[in-house]
Amino acid sequence: MNYPLLQKQIQSLLENETDVIANMANFSAFIFQEMDKVNWAGFYFVKDNQLVLGPFQGKVACVRIPWGKGVCGTAAEKQNSIIVENVNNFPGHIACDGASKSELVIPLIINNKTFAVFDIDSPVIGRFNKDDKQSMESLIKIFMDATVF
Ligand code: SME
Repeated sequence: MNYPLLQKQIQSLLENETDVIANMANFSAFIFQEMDKVNWAGFYFVKDNQLVLGPFQGKVACVRIPWGKGVCGTAAEKQNSIIVENVNNFPGHIACDGASKSELVIPLIINNKTFAVFDIDSPVIGRFNKDDKQSMESLIKIFMDATVF
């Protein structure tokens, strides 16, 4: 994966726009179109102590995820990115699409509070490694810096 190129492209995609929904929509569309073996990419907002579906690309997905549940709810609560090699081995994994086999979730944190999470799913077991996690965290940082919340 050519992450340095993706970083430059994300930078220019977002640099003239500050709107959170517009930037989330284009960020997820860009990741979905550029990354191979990815069948879903999108955001969940933290609202009323649960996660609520935001802009995404891929098949229709679960709308609400309870706080602390699933991979997304766990990443939101722990404020840590989570790589899941095989979703069948993650207790409490929420299967929106049975085709998804591995997953990477990055929390978006503002003033020590989780504001949203970014979730990427793959139909391939073990699709995401530590390099993907670090690189995706830096892409999310570009999104956070470009956007006004
Ligand atoms: N699998 C996620 C739910 C979101 S969907 O994959 C789009 C989870 O366990 O949190």
